[in-house]
Amino acid sequence: MPTVVFVLPSGRRVAVEVEPGTTMLEAARIGGVDIEGACGGSMACATCHLWVAEDWFDRLPEATPEEEDMLDLAADWAPTSRLGCQIRIEPGLDGLTVRVPRSSLLSDG
Ligand code: FES
Repeated sequence: MPTVVFVLPSGRRVAVEVEPGTTMLEAARIGGVDIEGACGGSMACATCHLWVAEDWFDRLPEATPEEEDMLDLAADWAPTSRLGCQIRIEPGLDGLTVRVPRSSLLSDG
């Protein structure tokens, strides 16, 4: 199963092994990373915002226009920003690494 890595604001790394098809928002919850994700993945909140590691960003399918629109509302936007609920983990993404903005966390996890 693919493993993905969340890097918290403290620098702590949380590796989570997930079934293919899981989203990064779901993976965060499985791993106990306290991402807000207020709308539950329906692309209506941007509180699941993540910074994808640069060397992984181009390996993800491109964001849809709807996701781009929602990212415009994200606090702390950066060039590798994506919505965690819109990143689906496929076997080829084993090792995918993202940083979690403090603004996306309910607690420091
Ligand atoms: Fe709301 Fe991702 S959980 S946009």
